[in-house]
Amino acid sequence: MPVKIIANYNVGTNEVKILKGPKGYQYIVNKEYGNNFVNEVRKAAETSIIGQLSGSSLYKTIKSATMLLRRKGLRVLESDVAYALRESLKYRKLQVLIDDPYIEDISVVGTGPIWVRHSIVIKEDPLADYIQTNIIIGSELELLQHISILSERSGRAISKLNPIIDANLPEEDGSHRIHLVLPEITGGKGEIVIRKKKPYRFVSLRELQKEGMIEEPVVSLIKKVIHEKGSLLIVGPPGSGKTTLLRAILYSLVPPSWKVAIIEDTPEIDLPPGSSWVKYVVPLTSSKEVTLDQLTLTKAALRSSVSKFLVVGETRGKEARVLVQAMNMGLGGLTTFHGGSPEEAIRRLTSHPIDLTQEQLGMFKLIITLGFIESGKGIKRSVIDVSMPYLDGNLLKLKRLYQRKTGEITEEKLMEVLTEKPALNL
Ligand SMILES: Nc1ncnc2c1ncn2[C@@H]1O[C@H](COP(=O)(O)OP(=O)(O)O)[C@@H](O)[C@H]1O
Ligand SMILES: [Mg+2]
Repeated sequence: MPVKIIANYNVGTNEVKILKGPKGYQYIVNKEYGNNFVNEVRKAAETSIIGQLSGSSLYKTIKSATMLLRRKGLRVLESDVAYALRESLKYRKLQVLIDDPYIEDISVVGTGPIWVRHSIVIKEDPLADYIQTNIIIGSELELLQHISILSERSGRAISKLNPIIDANLPEEDGSHRIHLVLPEITGGKGEIVIRKKKPYRFVSLRELQKEGMIEEPVVSLIKKVIHEKGSLLIVGPPGSGKTTLLRAILYSLVPPSWKVAIIEDTPEIDLPPGSSWVKYVVPLTSSKEVTLDQLTLTKAALRSSVSKFLVVGETRGKEARVLVQAMNMGLGGLTTFHGGSPEEAIRRLTSHPIDLTQEQLGMFKLIITLGFIESGKGIKRSVIDVSMPYLDGNLLKLKRLYQRKTGEITEEKLMEVLTEKPALNL
């Protein structure tokens, strides 16, 4: 089988080719203009570093590195050098992979080639998983350097006492999720996994409405509740669009000037640019006691003059208390919860281990349930129920405000929807 180029594009100053040959797929960063170029620049920069790499001296370094490279016969622009230098200074060999929008995951196990999951390859061959790159981690020292850069950038220290960390890169670097293991732990091999987060895209309630996920009467109800600083519980099975709806509500209805705090386990909700909102990413427990972290966080959130909403990205366990606490203090609470109907959500939220009281659940203005409906053209995600919880004596009851027929849905069709490529690039 001859080697075929199935994709060819640029990432910054690097040229990338995806090859398909007898040994499977390969990710190739053009050596002349990729790795070697970066190495040349690094060398040039190192020999020309006069002062510290900051402010004007950084510019001096770029200028003299460019001159050095030109003298060697390389035709480069200062902007190329600046890019390569940034690359060599920040995530080094991982930089091009982090910058490449087609790469979904990056994996390094010990020394040797770096592996990636590439969306073009996965589309062509869904069984292809990780493919090899021509970027090589040459020594254990180099591996440790990369681990240490990632750990430092994520703000979580890795050490012999704390040899495995799961963290996120800072927002300006894309908030990607990282998993790092020091060599001793995995029998001599260290490990780096980067799960890339797709870039921020604003999906509005209008778009979801146009798409048929939500109907006008429901939009109006939600609008009214949000304007009154009321609380919403979004319920649905996994993959039904709970987080998508929560994001659309936040981005479309809550003005950026209202102070909002978001607490998440896995970062899925980006802060809108220019907003005054704050975000905390903390591991949330599923069954254990509420951790000190979470309580401290709520307090921090409340103290940081959050005056409108507290958002808990996904409620799974005792962290529901954090939300209830905020609601008791007069904030609106917004969260998502796994369940098939408002009744089921109430049952699970009021039983062990979450143990909320019926009265506490009565503080939610609306319970919005998402599900899958038969739309004629196949299955799609939709709001299927909106109910208002209220207390009758001390018994919690539900008043149905809206319902949508779901139609006949087979397991097979459901799997199709759940495994399709996301229609909304989120
Ligand atoms: N209205 C929609 N149309 C098409 N795809 C959607 C829609 N809403 C959500 N999705 C996709 O479905 C997947 C799951 O959505 P998400 O909001 O994370 O679900 P949940 O939070 O309920 O697990 C995502 O890939 C998302 O892009
Ligand atoms: Mg979700």
